[in-house]
Amino acid sequence: MRCYRHAFLLCLIFAFLSLLYVFNQLASTLEDRGSRDLTERRIPKRSSHDSGHLPRKRPGLTGLRDHEGGVDRCKSQSVSYWSPYWRLPADVCGVNCFMDSSFSGRSGSAVKEHRDERSHLAVVACGSRLEETLTMLKSAVLLSKKPLHFYIFAEDDLHDSFRSALDSWPRMVQNKFNYKVYPISFPEENAKEWKKLFKPCASQRLFLPLILKEVDSLLYVDTDILFLRPVEDIWALLSQFNSSHLAAMAPEHEEPRIGWYNRFARHPYYGKTGINSGVMLMNMTRLREKFFQNDMTTVALRWEEILMPLLQKYKLNITWGDQDLLNIIFSQNPESLYVFPCQWNYRPDHCIYGSNCQHAEREGVFILHGNRGVYHDDKQPAFRAVYEAIQKHKFGENMETTLLQPLEATLKTTTNTYCGRASHLFTKRLKQSVMSAKEHITQR
Ligand SMILES: *[C@@H]1O[C@H](CO)[C@@H](O)[C@H](O)[C@H]1NC(C)=O
Ligand SMILES: *[C@@H]1O[C@H](CO)[C@@H](O)[C@H](O)[C@H]1NC(C)=O
Ligand SMILES: *[C@@H]1O[C@H](CO)[C@@H](O)[C@H](O)[C@H]1NC(C)=O
Repeated sequence: MRCYRHAFLLCLIFAFLSLLYVFNQLASTLEDRGSRDLTERRIPKRSSHDSGHLPRKRPGLTGLRDHEGGVDRCKSQSVSYWSPYWRLPADVCGVNCFMDSSFSGRSGSAVKEHRDERSHLAVVACGSRLEETLTMLKSAVLLSKKPLHFYIFAEDDLHDSFRSALDSWPRMVQNKFNYKVYPISFPEENAKEWKKLFKPCASQRLFLPLILKEVDSLLYVDTDILFLRPVEDIWALLSQFNSSHLAAMAPEHEEPRIGWYNRFARHPYYGKTGINSGVMLMNMTRLREKFFQNDMTTVALRWEEILMPLLQKYKLNITWGDQDLLNIIFSQNPESLYVFPCQWNYRPDHCIYGSNCQHAEREGVFILHGNRGVYHDDKQPAFRAVYEAIQKHKFGENMETTLLQPLEATLKTTTNTYCGRASHLFTKRLKQSVMSAKEHITQR
């Protein structure tokens, strides 16, 4: 009898403890869900600097589908006894999430709130630039070891093509980046006036600090850029800014005798030969806060205040659109610009009349910029060869044997041109990047 009573008591205690456990689990699940809802409603949960902000209206971007890929796509709901994976909501991808959350998981997203590891890359694609833009993004993904976030501003009829192309990349590759496609738009305030004055596609980049209000920093690149070095390497230059720097660009020319601005410009320009805006690093937090000196009023103006009067004053004298406006602004605020060397923005100008980018001579080309359409015609076969090698490369193939070595062979056939003669510089750094990307993959 006593034995039974003991057993009964034990059972009772066990039942009580189980009940406690159930309640505990339930409570923590609810708590989790609550806090997750909060973070999700805070739409721009991107950089470390917006973590404290309340939900904000995003001008001109309503009705956009958030197409975040990779890490953020899965809700990091963990699979437990109380929510086995067959009972997870439809938008949670069971097994993969389970894998994701057990490796990067909760603690990963907690870390992200504090320190954003990603490089934020923006591009504006209009007209026939789809393929070129995808090749640029591919070069970024192939060589980078840290996660990336892409902000793709494109004409509406390109949106679906971007999404289906990027979504078709292998899952391993997709895990390295998030992306979002945006329409070409102007800040809501004064949108009508902006539209009257600015050609939408060409000037979109000037408005990025005002459209992406919640983003701290951004690397803007033209569509005809190819990364030959991981994106995080140029991103790291942000940390070299002194307290007055808010943007970084490369000079337009190394050689004043063939420079454009110093020979032809009818407006102020930065430094000896002007700056090229094809690769532009911005600390947009600072850009939005800065009061800029200018030659229109004695009062310093904010970014959103300076663009329109500047255009009105100079519209008859500018040739290269927004790049000219940037030259004018930084010529009047030179302390705000960090100038990086030419190998971060290497153009045909650097080799077309003989090699004149000394930094590239020493360390190789880091970012190739095939402006003037050289990826698509026969004027600079060396530039075209790099483009086609990356465009044709299939994810997952051995980059050394199917990309680098064939490219080196093709470049040897272009030495009848000046740029072809400098083309060993195109692969000098790329070779290192490929080796270290390969190592990174095998380590994982
Ligand atoms: C940009 O500038 C702000 C304000 O000075 C600073 O807090 C932030 O860390 C900078 N961002 C980066 C990526 O350096
Ligand atoms: C535009 O160019 C003309 C001719 O070079 C010059 O006289 C004029 O001052 C320029 N306008 C501005 C606003 O600099
Ligand atoms: C930052 O560097 C620029 C040169 O790139 C210089 O003109 C400026 O005075 C520096 N700012 C500070 C606060 O040291």
